[in-house]
Parts: sequence; C-alpha cells; structure tokens
Amino acid sequence: MKILGIETSCDETGAAVIEAFPHKKYVKVLANIISSSLFLHKKTGGIIPEIAAREQIKYIIPVIQETIEQCNNSTIDDIDAIAVTVGPGLIGSLLVGVETAKTLSFLFRKPIIPVNHLYGHIYANFVYEAQKTKNEKQIEFPAVALVVSGGHTDLVLMKGHGNLKWLGGTRDDAAGEAFDKIGRLLNLPYPGGPSIEKVSLDGDPKAFKFPRPLIDSGDFDFSFSGLKTAVFSKFKTMKKLDDQIIADISASVQQAVIDVLVEKTINAAREYKVKSILLGGGVAANQKLRDEFKSSIVNSQSSIKLFVPPKRLCTDNAAMIAMAGFFNHKSVDWQKISADPELYFD
Ligand code: KG4
Ligand code: ZN
Repeated sequence: MKILGIETSCDETGAAVIEAFPHKKYVKVLANIISSSLFLHKKTGGIIPEIAAREQIKYIIPVIQETIEQCNNSTIDDIDAIAVTVGPGLIGSLLVGVETAKTLSFLFRKPIIPVNHLYGHIYANFVYEAQKTKNEKQIEFPAVALVVSGGHTDLVLMKGHGNLKWLGGTRDDAAGEAFDKIGRLLNLPYPGGPSIEKVSLDGDPKAFKFPRPLIDSGDFDFSFSGLKTAVFSKFKTMKKLDDQIIADISASVQQAVIDVLVEKTINAAREYKVKSILLGGGVAANQKLRDEFKSSIVNSQSSIKLFVPPKRLCTDNAAMIAMAGFFNHKSVDWQKISADPELYFD
C-alpha cells in the first residue's frame, strides 16, 4: 500500500509517499519533499505564525503534486491512504494540512489517518529502520523515546506500536526553545539550535558553569527556563562580548542541555529495563548530543541499543508522519478530523 504523508505543523510544508508491504515488514520512502519558509523567519528571528500559514497555503498543492509525481509518475489514484499531522502545532499551519487532506480524502475517496506530530518524531526512527538490511540492529521493545524539539521535550515508554506511555516532559521551555531564545540573545542566526551547535565547535563547554535543571529530581520531568535565565543574567554582567566568549557560552549551554537529556533518558531506560532508546525531534540532529548518548551507553556497558534518525529526518518532515500512519493505521471519516494545536500524548 502507498501512503501519502502531509506535515504542516510549524513553518515547514512537507509531503511524502511511502510504500509499505505489511507482510514483508518492508517500507520504502518513494519521495519526501520539504518546503520551508525559514528564510522569512530568519529576518524576524522567530516564526510569525500568520506568515508561516500564508506561505504554506501557497506551497501545499505544488509540494503534494511534486511528491506524487516523483514516485515514478504516479497519480493520486495510486495512493491508498492519507496520513496527516493533526497536532500539536500552530493552528493556522495545521489547518492548511488538515483541510487539504480532508479535501483530497473527500474528492478522491481515500481513507485518512490522523497523526500526532510527536508520534511522528518517534516514528522517524522507523523510517530509517524500514530501510535497513537484515544484518543491521533492529528496534526492539520495550523502548524509551526522547522527543526533543522546538516545542517539546518528552520521555515516552513504548511497549509496542500504539502502546505508548508518557513518562515526563518539560514544565516550561522545551530544549529547542531554550536554544532558540539563547541564540537570539547571543545574536546568532535563527534557529538557535544549529547556530549554537556551530559556534560551540570553537568554545569550551566548561567555561561557564550553567545549571542542569532537575537533573537529580528523580522523575522524568525537564525544565529549561532556569537555564535560559542563568544565561541571561550572566550575559548582563559581561563587559566584553567577543566571538570567543559567545563560543564559550554556547558550548557551555549546549553541554548543560545535553547532560540533562542524556542523564534523564538513561535513567528512564534503566528503570523500565528497555532494550532500545529512540531519539527524535530537531534537537536530536545535534551531533554532540548524538555522540554523548552513544558514549554514555558504551561507558555504562549496557546492552541497550541506541537509535537516532538521520539528521534530515530529525527535523519536521512528512515521511515520519506517513510512517506513524502506517504503524498506527486507524483511518477516520474525514468529517471527524480536525486540527488540534494542543494535542499531546494520550
Ligand atoms: O522538530 P523540529 O524541526 O520542529 C518542532 O517540532 O519543534 O525542531 C526544531 C527545533 C528548533 O528549536 C531548533 O533550534 C532545534 O530543533 N534544532 C537543533 C538542531 N537542529 C534543530 N538544536 C540543536 N542542535 C541542532 N543541530
Ligand atoms: Zn517537530
């Protein structure tokens, strides 16, 4: 079966087609296209929801058309189901994807599968998984998933497909949001996460001792607004701000965020005796985070397997939405689907 995925929860307009052969447990990504309005948001240092949605209205049909055409000149008739992100996200942006999916579903009589964007980030691991050869390591359940993006920092226990239990999440800012706000303070290009990662390469992660919020709290909650405040306070006291100091602050902030994410995720993995750890979300594209997860698991001599999607699948894309739709295939009548900006884990 072929599934068309549609993703418009934030500033990206994404469409993808996957081809799934359920009995062979084999899924192929036939096309995965992203159109971003990031260049517009770089000018304003953050996303202006109205602008994002207006751009998405322009892009959505051409992106879907191009995606379907890329699959050996297929047409919409070759699509068996449409998986669409229904939330969480920006209401205007979500509406563009959801209303388009509903219209296509009605016009062409295709089943429609509503997908939670946060599940999508977890299922980015299965996009990769599905393309692996038999000899490579496979995801085994139970697993702990860390979803770490611009809007979310959540730890989830996954006992199987469709069997997810939320363990904890951020009480205030998400990790990506903290990077974005601190990046703006340091006058780095938006989004802050990749910019901080880049300048950190020349910085000393031990130069500033920033807090590791809730690292020893004994639960699976996170809090990054205190870290942001600590950086802001330090920043105010600085008389001189050259490239080296910006690199040192960036490296120290990045290290503080990584320490908390790694420690809490490994604690959850131990407590629930999981076999796999899955990372997902834009912040999982951070190379230092990926490396530190790897070395932390190796150093603890644990048999837990770590899975991290390729970087282009960590940030928002429609292949992960199509994949989540395939593994949680519950189609719903198009009239019953609506965008839900506050959607969370069940
Ligand atoms: O998953 P995503 O594309 O969108 C949301 O669902 O939020 O994540 C975007 C977030 C932004 O906050 C961005 O700064 C952060 O992910 N991000 C990174 C990196 N790439 C993106 N953070 C740290 N290092 C990166 N390389
Ligand atoms: Zn996302």
